[in-house]
Order: sequence, then structure tokens, then C-alpha cells
Amino acid sequence: MIEATTYRQRRLHLAKAMAGGVAVIPTAPERTRNRDSQHPYRFDSYFHYLTGFAEPEAVLVLVAGKRPRSLLFCREKHPEREIWDGFRYGPAAAQEAFGFERAYPIAKLDTMLPKLLADQESLFFHLGADSEWDARAVSWLNRVREQVRSGVSAPSAIRDVRVLLDDMRLIKDAGEIALMRRAAEISAAAHIRAMKVTRPGATEHEVEAELLHEFRRRGAQSPAYPAIVAGGANACVLHYVANNAPLRDGDLLLIDAACELDGYAADITRTFPVNGRFSPAQKDVYQLVLAAQAAAIAQVAPGKHWDEPHQAALRVLAQGGIDLGLCRGSLDEVLEKGGYKRFYMHKTGHWLGMDVHDVGDYKRNREWRQLEPGMTLTVEPGCYIRPADDVPEHFWNIGVRIEDDVAVTQDGCEVLTHGVPKSVAAIEELLIDKEK
Ligand code: GLY
Ligand code: MN
Ligand code: MN
Repeated sequence: MIEATTYRQRRLHLAKAMAGGVAVIPTAPERTRNRDSQHPYRFDSYFHYLTGFAEPEAVLVLVAGKRPRSLLFCREKHPEREIWDGFRYGPAAAQEAFGFERAYPIAKLDTMLPKLLADQESLFFHLGADSEWDARAVSWLNRVREQVRSGVSAPSAIRDVRVLLDDMRLIKDAGEIALMRRAAEISAAAHIRAMKVTRPGATEHEVEAELLHEFRRRGAQSPAYPAIVAGGANACVLHYVANNAPLRDGDLLLIDAACELDGYAADITRTFPVNGRFSPAQKDVYQLVLAAQAAAIAQVAPGKHWDEPHQAALRVLAQGGIDLGLCRGSLDEVLEKGGYKRFYMHKTGHWLGMDVHDVGDYKRNREWRQLEPGMTLTVEPGCYIRPADDVPEHFWNIGVRIEDDVAVTQDGCEVLTHGVPKSVAAIEELLIDKEK
């Protein structure tokens, strides 16, 4: 759990980085699913990162300067609605519990913002993210501009608050890493459960149900992204989410699934044989991807740059592609001409955090960013082989991805998702012995 003092520190840190001006950071809206049913509510990650406040219809206004002030606008108490929908803090209790300088009813936002923006140089805002919020920001600014004849000046700059926040969110503190470790443990337990129920004749959705069961049973609020449970050729569809096909003897099953816990995501992929034993061709491809992943993880350390793990994985995959007869030419030719791209068309990872594809630049001044302690990322090479005349037939429709989550430490990295087996021997042992 992240303490109110941590959120307060983050707001102070942001105020310092702003060096003046006013930031306006709304949380996410509730979204209708169909007719009068809503999607499960999920707060905006930036807003939650700075407040810890999980209710919808809330906005943080941060007035930077010598003595920064954090103001929350939120829903009022509503005894009748609370009978139907549950507890709401209301401004007074929210101010107290979350450590804001002041809190107000959300209905006051449009009248208070023009006053708060008067004589400020900059508005820090997520311009372009939501057209309704953009229009509201323009209306606040126009209301300030209407007062210029009475000596008030309006902000002359609208700056993207995300630029500052992305840098903060990219480096996780110990509390965030602890949450991510726990999200990884829960997701690992779910993968093991899924492996144990997999058998020829089961259906992808039955396996998905076991994953979801384990996430919720262990207290995660939701999946971090739609689960991919892809048997056989479905594994070659990178974002397969139908999850409704029967699992066949002799096929592999690729599962890319993980939970979100208290706003932090895990992201795990494992690939294993439906019947418990890898065929020789499946084993060849699997061992290749596993070797590529090991090579990539070895490059995750402070001082390495973002692309080094990807380049390490590519070299292994390209050489393996040549050795298996999937790619033709020398290693340099295959790397240079991209002959591997038919089988490996994505990058080897992404930042991971509150959002599964988390915020943060990958390049700085056109150079790949250096890895630093506290950064968290995935390492997820794969190999996806579609049928083709020039591809040996025993490899057709094999799709393998192996994905782990790692945190950069002072001298290397910690694999947060080590709890799910991934060597051939460990997977076969778990699958064959699953009745025990
Ligand atoms: N599960 C999303 C990804 O692996 O990027
Ligand atoms: Mn991923
Ligand atoms: Mn994934």
C-alpha cells in the first residue's frame, strides 16, 4: 500500500518541476458499456499517481510556487446515491484522508479555475488527450482573458504536464516495486493454475477462466489487459483475444495474461505443450526463444541503453533462424536485411508500471535512453512461424513467446516474474506431474 505522504511528496516534486503555474489533472470518466451498464471503473493513472484517490468525477489542481497548494475537486457526499452505489468521501473527508490543502465539490471546478489561473504564466494540462477537457480548458482561459482590462493577465503558455509526470513515473520507488512484485506473484500463481488445467479437449476459455479466478481470489482488482489464450496456430496472431477454440493434442498453448493490483500491472507470457511434452520442432523453437530471452535479460543493467536487450535477443533469434532453416544468409545479412522479421516482428519489451505499456520516453535527444535503477520493463522475445513453401513444414503454426517483468537494480536486474517455470524440464515436470 502506498501512503498518503508518498502522494503528497509526488505532488511537491511535480510542483518543483513546474517552477510556477497551475496543473489541472482530471481522473478518467466512467464509460457506458451498453444502455445503462458501465464498464468497471478504472481511474486515470496520472491522477492516481498523484493522489491515491480512486473515485470518478475528480480533478487535482496543483498551484505551484513558493508554497505549493493541492486542491481536490470531487463528488459531494450523497446519502441516497451511497445506498445504491457505495461510499463516497466527499470533499471534507477526502481533504483530511488524502492530505490536500483544500477540497471542493466538483461542481465548483468551472467557476474556480478562472480565478486560480488569473496572473499565472502557465497552465499545465494534458492538451489533446480528451476533446471535452480541451474545450473546458479553453473556456477557463477565455474567462481569464475577459478580465484583462481590469489588470488580470492570462496564462501565455499551455504546457504538457505529462512530460514532467512521465519522467517521475518511469522510476519506481521501493513501494511501487513491492506492489509490482506482488502483482507478478499473483499472475505467476495464475499461470501455474492455468498450466495445471490444460489438457487436450479443454477450451481456451476454460483456461482463461482459471487465470481470472486466481487473480481475483488473491485480491487483484482486474486483469491488466485482455488475456491472450492462444492454442496452436492462434499463437501466431499477436493480439489474439477470441479465446474460444478447443485445445488440441500436439499443439502448444501461448498464454499472455497478468493482473493489475492496486493500479500496477504485471505482464507475463508462457508457452507450453497442451499434452505436456514438447515435440522436437516445438522444443527447438522454444529453446531458441528462451536463449534469446536470457541474452536480453543479461543486458538489463544500469548504464545499458534501452535497445541493448532487443539487439541481444535479435542476434540470438537471427542465428537460430539460420540454424533451423527459417532464415537464409549470414548473420549480418539476416540482421541487416531484416530476414528475421517474418518470424519476429515486435520489439523485445516496453516500460511496465501503472499502465501495461507504461509511460516514459525510449529515446532522449535522439539517443536510446540509459537504463537506471527503478525502471521496470518487460523482456518478451518470440517466434511466430506461419505456413509457407520455404519454411520446413514441421515448424508450421508454431508460435512461442516468453515474457518476464524485470526491475533494474543497482548492479543488474531483478526478475519479478520468476515464479512461473520456463525451462523445458521445469514445464514438462509441472505438466506431467499436475495430478500430484
Ligand atoms: N500483454 C501485452 C504485451 O505483452 O505487450
Ligand atoms: Mn508485454
Ligand atoms: Mn504480454
